[in-house]
Amino acid sequence: MRDESSAGTQRVALVTGASRGIGRAIAERLAQDGFAILLNASDRGTLDAAAREMAASGATVHPFACDISDRDAVAKMLTETEQRFGRLDVVVNNAAVSLRVNGRPPCLEATPLEHWDRMLAVNLTAPFLVCRAAVPLMKRNRWGRIVFVGSIGTRMVTGNTSLPYASAKAGLLGLARLLAAELGTHGITVNTVVPGRVKTGMSDSYSNCEALDIEYAKRTPVGRIGQPRDIAAAVAYLVSEDAAFVNGAIHDINGGMYLP
Ligand SMILES: NC(=O)c1ccc[n+]([C@@H]2O[C@H](COP(=O)([O-])OP(=O)(O)OC[C@H]3O[C@@H](n4cnc5c(N)ncnc54)[C@H](OP(=O)(O)O)[C@@H]3O)[C@@H](O)[C@H]2O)c1
Repeated sequence: MRDESSAGTQRVALVTGASRGIGRAIAERLAQDGFAILLNASDRGTLDAAAREMAASGATVHPFACDISDRDAVAKMLTETEQRFGRLDVVVNNAAVSLRVNGRPPCLEATPLEHWDRMLAVNLTAPFLVCRAAVPLMKRNRWGRIVFVGSIGTRMVTGNTSLPYASAKAGLLGLARLLAAELGTHGITVNTVVPGRVKTGMSDSYSNCEALDIEYAKRTPVGRIGQPRDIAAAVAYLVSEDAAFVNGAIHDINGGMYLP
């Protein structure tokens, strides 16, 4: 990992859940676009390996392993971001968990309370904690970009979304809307990308994943499911200067499977 003490001018992006899947693709894309990256996930070994690979490709990257539902750890992560880079410009709230029973979303009566608590903690409370700790750093420069990663399961009934997961992701839409209204006057925009089905470890963990890939591709006008880079490209636009007038919007990135 390169220690970039010149980061006073280089913009800095914090990407949660960035050790693999969509978060990794977002981190790599933002690094290519010139951002220094604070890379987060909870498993230190996988995260450090991802950071080493990105650094070998020329990225300025600093890993911080923590469970983002741990408020003390989140506070430490933001302190370390400031110490390491001296600024923070972008937050991508990407990390999430999708807990299922036997690989499938259980019905109401079969939904364990532990699943509800965990998914609300990681998928909704944690983004709130991260934003609360990050926004003071962004306000200093009167510039910032916050992106939430939602889910198509809050936009349409796919038959493949658990109740706690959809509830947490729906909560993100409310959080994003109100933050957009509150923070716009500070030069900080807040948007949500809402992926359709994307080929990652999460989607591959579902019991009938191959059949689901085929079914979703058939239901999608562009004829395929998503790849992590499809979501990363949308995030890259939303955190760019070009997106200065885009605030409080929900961006469906799903090949047209959901058409509002
Ligand atoms: N894949 C899809 O089809 C799809 C569709 C719609 C929306 N999404 C959304 O897209 C985002 C990324 O999903 P993905 O498919 O890339 O998932 P993934 O492959 O399972 O990756 C999830 C990432 O989040 C990290 N993570 C999980 N719990 C964490 C915690 N408590 N603290 C910190 N990091 C944590 C994981 O690392 P550790 O395990 O080491 O913590 C990993 O880096 C999620 O918000 C998901 O809900 C995905």
